[in-house]
Amino acid sequence: MCGIVGYAGQSGNAKEIIIDGLKRLEYRGYDSSGIALISNGKLEVRKRAGRIANLEEMIKDESLNSKMGIGHTRWATHGAPSDINSHPHTNKDGSIAVVHNGILENYVELRQWLIEEHGIEFRSEVDTEVIVHLISIYYDGNLEDAVFKALQRMRGAYAIAAVCQDDPEKIVAFRRNAPLIAGIGRGCNFIASDIPAILRYVKEIYLIENNEMVIVTKDDIKIYDIDRNEVHRDIFHVTWDAESAEKNGYKHFMLKEIHEQPKGLYETLRRRIDDNGMINLDGICLTKEQLENFNRIYIVACGTAYHAGLVGKFAIEKMAQIAVEVEVASEFRYRDPFVDDKTLFIAISQSGETSDTLEALREAKRKGARIISVVNVVGSSVARESDDVFYTWAGPEIAVASTKAYTTQLMSMYIIALYMGITKGTIDKEYYESFMEDLKEIPDKAKKVLQLESMLASLARDLYKNEQIFFIGRGPDAGVSYEGSLKLKEISYINSFAIAAGELKHGTIALIEKDIVVIALATQDKLYEKMLSNIQEVKARGAYVIGMATENNKEIEMQADKVIYIPECRDELTPLLSVIPLQLLAYYIAKERGCDIDKPKNLAKSVTVE
Ligand code: F6R
Repeated sequence: MCGIVGYAGQSGNAKEIIIDGLKRLEYRGYDSSGIALISNGKLEVRKRAGRIANLEEMIKDESLNSKMGIGHTRWATHGAPSDINSHPHTNKDGSIAVVHNGILENYVELRQWLIEEHGIEFRSEVDTEVIVHLISIYYDGNLEDAVFKALQRMRGAYAIAAVCQDDPEKIVAFRRNAPLIAGIGRGCNFIASDIPAILRYVKEIYLIENNEMVIVTKDDIKIYDIDRNEVHRDIFHVTWDAESAEKNGYKHFMLKEIHEQPKGLYETLRRRIDDNGMINLDGICLTKEQLENFNRIYIVACGTAYHAGLVGKFAIEKMAQIAVEVEVASEFRYRDPFVDDKTLFIAISQSGETSDTLEALREAKRKGARIISVVNVVGSSVARESDDVFYTWAGPEIAVASTKAYTTQLMSMYIIALYMGITKGTIDKEYYESFMEDLKEIPDKAKKVLQLESMLASLARDLYKNEQIFFIGRGPDAGVSYEGSLKLKEISYINSFAIAAGELKHGTIALIEKDIVVIALATQDKLYEKMLSNIQEVKARGAYVIGMATENNKEIEMQADKVIYIPECRDELTPLLSVIPLQLLAYYIAKERGCDIDKPKNLAKSVTVE
């Protein structure tokens, strides 16, 4: 995600301090960086796409002696990662610079107004440029006045920081639903989006609340509410070291990311709902005629993303009534698949750089398919080479084992399926509306599932010595079983195997014997009784069964040795919830086994080789 760092001090090394702060935010992922410094009375802005090293290289021979400035690492949302789209953005005469995290929702309308009423010529594609021009229009010798006026017109969730060469002593920053802190130094002060950015310099900070402005000078930090009343804030003493601060106090990125899922789910959905509560695919054109023209859909991906596709198939086939094949990319690309201009090809990829997925996409494109990708990293290769992109809003995923990317991919599949269904007319308005209502409840239900954490940690202590664990499920639960099993094996190195429960009797059941652990997902009302029979089958051979069901389905307690309950929820949507206990279980089992959870052996976050 984007990062902000600002420094106001007495020494002339603002450049070094800000770059150092940006580097400490690198772990969060970014695609470009930039800096704005007041140097010799003039605002100097330097920015570069790619690594911070590119920015450093650009400015290494410039003295840029400065006592104050702001810096930014960007994770693209509007506009591809490029030099011009990087922050800071400046006004027309280059006297004001702004960095910005988050989203300005009404930027299209404001941009239009700035063009028509003020003749502004925009240089970039990003919403941030709107903010700096807006501030510039209201600027009349006092930066905070101008920012306050601009804020009245801005809608969205964001944190911003601004500096101005004509009001050169201060950084003016504001928070609305995006993190912002101010750091109290000696003879200097800071602002930042995240504690790790400034932890090397300060241990005492102010946590800025929503709708508050903070004005930072070298001598002072002042906080104001939205009505411009000064606010007194207690100092927060940071006791974490830099490493745990990056993880927000969690022991591992994986655990942090598991906990970020309610937010990722909420954001992925929120950004696709318009003011009337309807799905807005925002630029992805899928008309009724186009949908009727497709005679087949391929969902192609690897690993966890492939598992999201398995669940997506159920949703799309049910709602849009088009045949869906889900295939791992490494197979698809070499088997001469039947693809033509009546094919819709959906690639799913967190990184957007997975070589197998990219090559499969290219193959489908050559054969005339329409390409839509579901991707987390903006501007990645898969995104660039697709006809349309549906971005997930997981934020950067650092742990190698994918968690929040998977649940946001699932959410995206439901949104796409629902949109296809209502557009094609294969679902009615009533179904659409009730499904939407249920989708909106998912982030809160996901929070509830996270409350199972201590129970799962204790279950992990009972299970961690096992060298084999099986997962079974039917329908969408089979897809989630594959994902639960993958999570477990990749981080704990336990030999784990998942199978559609009805397939067990065709061979695999030979492996079930006394005390073998079987995790049985039975969250589908329609398939519940069938799953109870499958549980009996493995129990009869001595297995130790951990069942999973929704809260009202208690009969499972008669069959299973232990039951994990998830909140009540319609059959189609349970995968969004049922995977979370499996992620937590995998995490705690790996922890008990002393594994390197964030960096499991033999694995890389982005697999760019064949
Ligand atoms: C497992 C995992 C991998 C990825 C796979 C595809 O936890 O992360 O299985 O899902 O390598 O990666 P992306 O989604 O980046 O294409």
